[in-house]
Amino acid sequence: MGSDKVRIGIIGCGIGIFHLEGFEKERRAEVVALAGLDTERCVMLQNRFNVPRRYGDYSEMLADPEIDAVSIAVPNHLHLPVTLDALAAGKHVLVEKPLARNVVEGQQMIDAARAAGRILMIIFNRRGRHDVRLVKREVERGRLGKIYHAKAFWMRRSGIPGLGSWFTNKELAGGGPLIDLGVHALDMSLWILGNPSPVAVSAATYAALGPKGKGQWQGNRFAVTPDVAYEVEDFATAMVRFEDGMTLQLDASWAGYTRHTDEFGVTLMGDNGGAEIHVKDYADSGTLRFFGEIEGTPTVTEPRLLATHGHGEMAKSFVASILDDAPVSPSAEEGLERVRLIEAIYRSAQEGREIEIAPLAAVTA
Ligand SMILES: NC(=O)c1ccc[n+]([C@@H]2O[C@H](COP(=O)([O-])OP(=O)(O)OC[C@H]3O[C@@H](n4cnc5c(N)ncnc54)[C@H](O)[C@@H]3O)[C@@H](O)[C@H]2O)c1
Repeated sequence: MGSDKVRIGIIGCGIGIFHLEGFEKERRAEVVALAGLDTERCVMLQNRFNVPRRYGDYSEMLADPEIDAVSIAVPNHLHLPVTLDALAAGKHVLVEKPLARNVVEGQQMIDAARAAGRILMIIFNRRGRHDVRLVKREVERGRLGKIYHAKAFWMRRSGIPGLGSWFTNKELAGGGPLIDLGVHALDMSLWILGNPSPVAVSAATYAALGPKGKGQWQGNRFAVTPDVAYEVEDFATAMVRFEDGMTLQLDASWAGYTRHTDEFGVTLMGDNGGAEIHVKDYADSGTLRFFGEIEGTPTVTEPRLLATHGHGEMAKSFVASILDDAPVSPSAEEGLERVRLIEAIYRSAQEGREIEIAPLAAVTA
């Protein structure tokens, strides 16, 4: 470490903007460089955030000895090679969700981080939300009793990102809304629940609008572009069974004829209470309800919530793991377990039957 600050290099200028905002909020971090192939967007970000150095390909950045850690925001197929190269260059790594396209790749990343003695952390920025944290705390305190059923969803009416880009290419993305949005919904719910072990899943996937060029969101407008290759699902639904008997219903959609605009949430049913997070269009408040009772009379509690910056919370946690030896959270191992479940969901959908899931490695919440 050059000083008491972690010197960060950001790789990727799309969602990389949230990485810049997040690290700007962390006083023990300093973004010293930015890398990206799309020069125009990167120059705009460099100027806006006063980043001292800018590179094109990420490998040029990794040769910079004044960088302690990198924050990776590149397409899913590049998470593995960029992470391996960054670790080999001695950098700590913060990488966007999903950890990787599949379990084999994710495991390679974890093995490489262990061998290099460097931190590998994944970004699950929704964990930074006030509503998500409150529900986790109440579950941990046992206030809802035993949770027997959960619902997790992320549903968009017309929100296919970049139709025809890497997002809708199976090889480059690893999947559609399930791996893109469903991974957030799965992580929020499983983190809240203390990472229970799934034992089986029954799932289906569909591609109803995407192949017709419908349902996309591009350049801040709705658009229809026929004759564009669309190789992934636009809706996935799954029922997951857990070791302790709990079930979880997951729905993830980029596009579909539903009432949802862009909405995600988690519902928990416990034998002593319930909770519902329902976030419409990324709202920060009015999104949480707890269900209980007073002497048999049903009650609904709506906590007042504070806005948080998800990537800011991730930046804070990453820096604490580097400078203070704080536990890495969210850990790459948790990222791998989400990918393992997603892989089983895709397999179940493909084979049209319930799939058993092998016992998971212990993961701490
Ligand atoms: N956490 C979230 O809420 C969230 C939101 C959106 C996207 N993401 C994730 O972030 C990642 C990137 O998504 P995006 O929407 O920003 O994609 P994008 O296509 O808009 O941007 C990708 C960036 O990677 C850069 N890049 C590609 N190859 C490179 C190389 N060799 N060297 C340097 N830079 C390179 C591109 O130049 C571009 O700036 C994905 O994994 C996605 O799942 C996360």
